[in-house]
Amino acid sequence: METTRTIVIFGSGFGSNFEAIVRGIRKKGLPIRVAYVFSDNPNAYILERAKRLEVPKKVIDYRSIGNREIYNEKVLQMLEREPFDLLVLAGYMRILPPKIVRRFWRKIINIHPALLPAFRGLHAIEKAFKAGVKVTGVTVHIVDEGVDTGEILAQEPIRILPDDTLHSLEERIHKVEHRLYLEVIESLLFPKN
Ligand code: GRF
Repeated sequence: METTRTIVIFGSGFGSNFEAIVRGIRKKGLPIRVAYVFSDNPNAYILERAKRLEVPKKVIDYRSIGNREIYNEKVLQMLEREPFDLLVLAGYMRILPPKIVRRFWRKIINIHPALLPAFRGLHAIEKAFKAGVKVTGVTVHIVDEGVDTGEILAQEPIRILPDDTLHSLEERIHKVEHRLYLEVIESLLFPKN
Protein backbone atom coordinates (compact mmCIF):
# COMPACT_ATOMS: atom_id res chain seq x y z
CA MET A 1 0.00 0.00 0.00
CA GLU A 2 1.39 3.41 -1.00
CA THR A 3 1.65 6.12 1.64
CA THR A 4 -0.77 8.98 1.25
CA ARG A 5 0.48 12.01 -0.69
CA THR A 6 -0.80 15.51 -0.10
CA ILE A 7 -1.68 18.04 -2.75
CA VAL A 8 -2.90 21.62 -2.70
CA ILE A 9 -4.94 23.09 -5.55
CA PHE A 10 -4.99 26.77 -6.57
CA GLY A 11 -7.77 28.26 -8.72
CA SER A 12 -9.36 31.61 -9.40
CA GLY A 13 -12.43 30.71 -11.37
CA PHE A 14 -14.70 27.97 -12.62
CA GLY A 15 -12.88 25.04 -11.04
CA SER A 16 -13.80 22.24 -13.44
CA ASN A 17 -10.26 20.82 -13.34
CA PHE A 18 -10.29 20.91 -9.56
CA GLU A 19 -13.57 18.99 -9.47
CA ALA A 20 -12.33 16.44 -12.02
CA ILE A 21 -9.17 15.84 -9.98
CA VAL A 22 -11.07 15.35 -6.73
CA ARG A 23 -13.69 13.08 -8.32
CA GLY A 24 -10.97 11.11 -10.14
CA ILE A 25 -8.99 10.57 -6.93
CA ARG A 26 -12.11 9.27 -5.21
CA LYS A 27 -13.22 7.10 -8.11
CA LYS A 28 -9.80 5.50 -8.50
CA GLY A 29 -9.34 5.23 -4.73
CA LEU A 30 -5.93 6.91 -4.96
CA PRO A 31 -4.08 7.66 -1.72
CA ILE A 32 -4.00 11.38 -2.44
CA ARG A 33 -5.29 13.91 0.06
CA VAL A 34 -6.37 17.31 -1.21
CA ALA A 35 -5.34 19.35 1.82
CA TYR A 36 -7.24 22.40 0.61
CA VAL A 37 -8.20 24.44 -2.37
CA PHE A 38 -6.96 28.01 -2.39
CA SER A 39 -8.41 31.00 -4.22
CA ASP A 40 -7.44 34.64 -4.55
CA ASN A 41 -11.06 35.39 -5.40
CA PRO A 42 -13.69 34.96 -2.66
CA ASN A 43 -16.47 34.76 -5.28
CA ALA A 44 -14.89 32.09 -7.45
CA TYR A 45 -17.12 29.17 -8.36
CA ILE A 46 -14.27 26.79 -7.48
CA LEU A 47 -15.09 27.53 -3.82
CA GLU A 48 -18.71 26.41 -4.28
CA ARG A 49 -17.41 23.19 -5.74
CA ALA A 50 -15.05 22.78 -2.78
CA LYS A 51 -17.96 23.12 -0.41
CA ARG A 52 -20.01 20.55 -2.31
CA LEU A 53 -17.07 18.14 -2.45
CA GLU A 54 -16.20 18.78 1.19
CA VAL A 55 -12.66 19.88 0.44
CA PRO A 56 -11.28 22.51 2.86
CA LYS A 57 -10.91 25.93 1.30
CA LYS A 58 -8.72 28.93 1.93
CA VAL A 59 -9.05 32.41 0.52
CA ILE A 60 -6.71 35.36 0.46
CA ASP A 61 -8.65 38.12 -1.24
CA TYR A 62 -6.19 39.75 -3.61
CA ARG A 63 -8.44 42.71 -4.35
CA SER A 64 -8.98 43.69 -0.75
CA ILE A 65 -5.21 43.55 -0.16
CA GLY A 66 -4.43 45.38 -3.39
CA ASN A 67 -0.66 44.94 -3.04
CA ARG A 68 1.11 42.14 -4.85
CA GLU A 69 4.05 41.81 -2.44
CA ILE A 70 1.86 41.60 0.64
CA TYR A 71 -0.51 39.18 -1.06
CA ASN A 72 2.33 36.90 -2.18
CA GLU A 73 3.91 36.96 1.25
CA LYS A 74 0.62 35.75 2.74
CA VAL A 75 0.38 33.02 0.11
CA LEU A 76 3.93 31.89 0.95
CA GLN A 77 3.13 31.85 4.67
CA MET A 78 0.04 29.75 3.98
CA LEU A 79 2.07 27.27 1.93
CA GLU A 80 4.75 27.02 4.65
CA ARG A 81 2.16 26.17 7.29
CA GLU A 82 1.37 22.71 6.00
CA PRO A 83 3.72 20.44 4.02
CA PHE A 84 2.54 19.17 0.64
CA ASP A 85 3.94 17.02 -2.14
CA LEU A 86 2.48 18.89 -5.10
CA LEU A 87 0.92 22.29 -5.73
CA VAL A 88 -1.52 22.02 -8.62
CA LEU A 89 -2.51 25.20 -10.46
CA ALA A 90 -5.95 24.83 -11.99
CA GLY A 91 -7.04 28.11 -13.51
CA TYR A 92 -5.06 30.22 -11.03
CA MET A 93 -4.96 33.65 -12.64
CA ARG A 94 -2.00 35.14 -10.78
CA ILE A 95 1.67 34.70 -11.55
CA LEU A 96 3.54 33.04 -8.72
CA PRO A 97 6.54 35.13 -7.65
CA PRO A 98 10.10 33.74 -8.02
CA LYS A 99 10.32 33.38 -4.24
CA ILE A 100 7.50 30.81 -4.20
CA VAL A 101 8.58 29.10 -7.44
CA ARG A 102 12.13 28.64 -6.09
CA ARG A 103 11.02 27.59 -2.61
CA PHE A 104 8.89 24.78 -4.07
CA TRP A 105 10.95 24.12 -7.17
CA ARG A 106 9.54 21.29 -9.35
CA LYS A 107 6.66 20.83 -6.93
CA ILE A 108 4.34 23.25 -8.75
CA ILE A 109 2.55 22.23 -11.95
CA ASN A 110 0.11 23.92 -14.31
CA ILE A 111 -2.22 22.91 -17.10
CA HIS A 112 -2.52 24.94 -20.28
CA PRO A 113 -5.15 24.51 -23.01
CA ALA A 114 -2.76 24.51 -26.00
CA LEU A 115 0.34 22.73 -27.21
CA LEU A 116 3.05 24.83 -25.61
CA PRO A 117 5.19 26.64 -26.58
CA ALA A 118 2.38 27.67 -28.96
CA PHE A 119 -0.33 30.01 -27.69
CA ARG A 120 1.03 30.92 -24.29
CA GLY A 121 -0.94 33.14 -21.94
CA LEU A 122 -4.65 33.92 -21.79
CA HIS A 123 -7.34 32.81 -24.27
CA ALA A 124 -5.17 30.06 -25.71
CA ILE A 125 -8.08 28.03 -27.12
CA GLU A 126 -9.49 31.03 -28.95
CA LYS A 127 -6.06 32.04 -30.24
CA ALA A 128 -5.47 28.57 -31.69
CA PHE A 129 -8.98 28.47 -33.18
CA LYS A 130 -8.58 31.88 -34.80
CA ALA A 131 -5.08 31.09 -36.04
CA GLY A 132 -6.57 28.28 -38.11
CA VAL A 133 -4.20 25.59 -36.88
CA LYS A 134 -5.36 22.03 -37.56
CA VAL A 135 -4.05 20.63 -34.29
CA THR A 136 -4.01 22.12 -30.82
CA GLY A 137 -4.10 20.35 -27.47
CA VAL A 138 -3.33 20.32 -23.79
CA THR A 139 -0.02 20.69 -21.94
CA VAL A 140 0.90 19.97 -18.34
CA HIS A 141 4.14 21.61 -17.28
CA ILE A 142 6.36 22.48 -14.35
CA VAL A 143 5.87 26.06 -13.21
CA ASP A 144 8.99 28.18 -13.56
CA GLU A 145 9.42 31.93 -13.30
CA GLY A 146 7.93 32.67 -16.72
CA VAL A 147 4.37 32.45 -17.99
CA ASP A 148 3.66 28.96 -19.41
CA THR A 149 7.38 28.41 -20.03
CA GLY A 150 8.34 25.59 -17.66
CA GLU A 151 9.44 22.08 -18.56
CA ILE A 152 6.75 20.15 -20.38
CA LEU A 153 5.63 17.01 -18.55
CA ALA A 154 2.85 15.81 -20.83
CA GLN A 155 1.01 16.87 -23.95
CA GLU A 156 -1.99 15.57 -25.80
CA PRO A 157 -2.89 16.77 -29.29
CA ILE A 158 -6.48 17.55 -30.30
CA ARG A 159 -7.50 17.99 -33.95
CA ILE A 160 -9.53 21.03 -34.88
CA LEU A 161 -12.27 19.68 -37.13
CA PRO A 162 -13.76 21.57 -40.10
CA ASP A 163 -17.14 21.93 -38.39
CA ASP A 164 -15.77 22.84 -34.96
CA THR A 165 -17.00 25.99 -33.27
CA LEU A 166 -14.97 27.63 -30.53
CA HIS A 167 -17.45 26.10 -28.09
CA SER A 168 -17.18 22.54 -29.39
CA LEU A 169 -13.39 22.81 -29.39
CA GLU A 170 -13.40 24.13 -25.82
CA GLU A 171 -15.52 21.21 -24.72
CA ARG A 172 -13.14 18.66 -26.22
CA ILE A 173 -10.11 20.39 -24.74
CA HIS A 174 -11.61 20.50 -21.25
CA LYS A 175 -12.53 16.83 -21.47
CA VAL A 176 -8.90 15.96 -22.20
CA GLU A 177 -7.68 18.30 -19.44
CA HIS A 178 -9.91 16.60 -16.89
CA ARG A 179 -8.36 13.21 -17.62
CA LEU A 180 -4.76 14.17 -18.38
CA TYR A 181 -4.16 16.34 -15.32
CA LEU A 182 -4.87 13.54 -12.86
CA GLU A 183 -2.78 11.10 -14.90
CA VAL A 184 0.21 13.43 -14.59
CA ILE A 185 -0.42 14.09 -10.90
CA GLU A 186 -0.54 10.36 -10.27
CA SER A 187 2.66 9.69 -12.20
CA LEU A 188 4.53 12.42 -10.32
CA LEU A 189 3.33 11.31 -6.91
CA PHE A 190 3.76 7.60 -7.56
CA PRO A 191 6.60 7.21 -10.06
CA LYS A 192 6.78 3.68 -11.44
CA ASN A 193 10.59 3.68 -11.22
C1 GRF B 1 -8.25 25.51 -18.04
O1 GRF B 1 -8.57 25.56 -19.40
C2 GRF B 1 -6.77 25.46 -17.84
O2 GRF B 1 -6.08 24.85 -18.90
C3 GRF B 1 -6.38 26.92 -17.77
O3 GRF B 1 -7.45 27.53 -17.12
C4 GRF B 1 -8.64 26.79 -17.32
C5 GRF B 1 -9.23 26.52 -15.97
O4 GRF B 1 -10.51 25.96 -16.05
N1 GRF B 1 -5.11 27.07 -17.12
P1 GRF B 1 -11.23 25.46 -14.74
O5 GRF B 1 -11.26 26.61 -13.75
O6 GRF B 1 -10.48 24.29 -14.21
O7 GRF B 1 -12.63 25.07 -15.17
